[in-house]
Amino acid sequence: MHASVTGNSRPRIVLSGQDLQKSFGGVRAVSGMNLTLREGSITGLIGPNGAGKSTLFHLLSGVIRPDSGRVELFGDDVTTLPTHARAQRGMVRSFQLAREFGPLTVLENLLLAPQRQRGERLLPLFFSPAKVKAKQESLYRRAVDVLALSQLTPLSNEYAANLSGGQKKLLELGRALMTDCPVILLDEPGAGVNPALMGLLTDMIRQLNAKYGKTFLIIEHDMDFIARLCDPVIVMTEGRHLIEASFEEIRRDPEVIKAYLGGAAANV
Ligand SMILES: Nc1ncnc2c1ncn2[C@@H]1O[C@H](COP(=O)(O)OP(=O)(O)OP(=O)(O)O)[C@@H](O)[C@H]1O
Ligand SMILES: [Mg+2]
Repeated sequence: MHASVTGNSRPRIVLSGQDLQKSFGGVRAVSGMNLTLREGSITGLIGPNGAGKSTLFHLLSGVIRPDSGRVELFGDDVTTLPTHARAQRGMVRSFQLAREFGPLTVLENLLLAPQRQRGERLLPLFFSPAKVKAKQESLYRRAVDVLALSQLTPLSNEYAANLSGGQKKLLELGRALMTDCPVILLDEPGAGVNPALMGLLTDMIRQLNAKYGKTFLIIEHDMDFIARLCDPVIVMTEGRHLIEASFEEIRRDPEVIKAYLGGAAANV
C-alpha cells in the first residue's frame, strides 16, 4: 500500500496543476483541470481517448504553456519554466510515443539523457579534465545500473532503432531514470509492450517507488496495470478532473462508467 492513502498525516504535494486550461483552435483539450500528486505515490491518470491526459502532461512538464492556470513543483510556481528547468528541479516525463535516438546505441541513448545536476556549467568542466573524467565515469556507472534494472544489458550496443516497441518503452523509462529525478511522469508506458515486458515494467516501477522513493504519475489504458500498481487513480474526462479514489472505488462509480461508455476502454 502506498503512503498516499494511509495514516492521518498525508505526504506532501510534490506537483500540482491548478485550474489549467489549454485550447487548440476550437478544441478545449484541458478545461479547468486540477490535480495534486503526493510524494511517494504511484498515481494513475486514466480517461477515455481524447480526455486531455497527454495535453495535461505537456502542461505539467513544460512542453507547452497553459492558456491559464498554474503548475507548482515542490511548492514553487514553474508555470512558465521550460522542460529542462523542471527536470533540474526534479521532474521528468516520458512520451506516449517513445523518443529514442535511432542511430545511437542503447547505451549512448542513456548517456545522452539530460542530466539533473543543478547549476552544472560546461565551461568549468571544460577547464577541468579531472572533473570531466569523474563525471563521465559516474554517468557510465549509472547507465550500467539502469541497463541491468531494465534488462537491456545484452542490448547495450544495439542501435535503438532496432529495438522492439516494448524495448523502446523500457529505454524511455531508462532515460528518465538517468536524470535521477524524484518525480516521474509516464505517458502510456505499457502501450505496445508485450505481457512479459509489461511484468518487468511493473516490477521496475514498484521497485523504484519502494526502494528509492520515486513518485510516479502514470497515464495508462491497461486497467490491469492500473489496478495492480496505482493508488490513487485520477479520472479525467473532457479536459477536467472527474474523480480521485482507489481503483476499486472508481470502477464502481456511475460517473466513471458513463464517461467510458462507448469509449475504447469500456471495460473499466
Ligand atoms: N497539437 C494539437 N492540435 C490540435 N488538437 C490537439 C492537439 N493535441 C491534442 N489535441 C486535441 O486535444 C484533445 C485531447 O488530446 P490528448 O492527446 O491530450 O488526449 P488523451 O487523453 O491523451 O488521449 P489518448 O488516450 O487517445 O492518448 C483531443 O481532442 C485532441 O485531438
Ligand atoms: Mg494521450
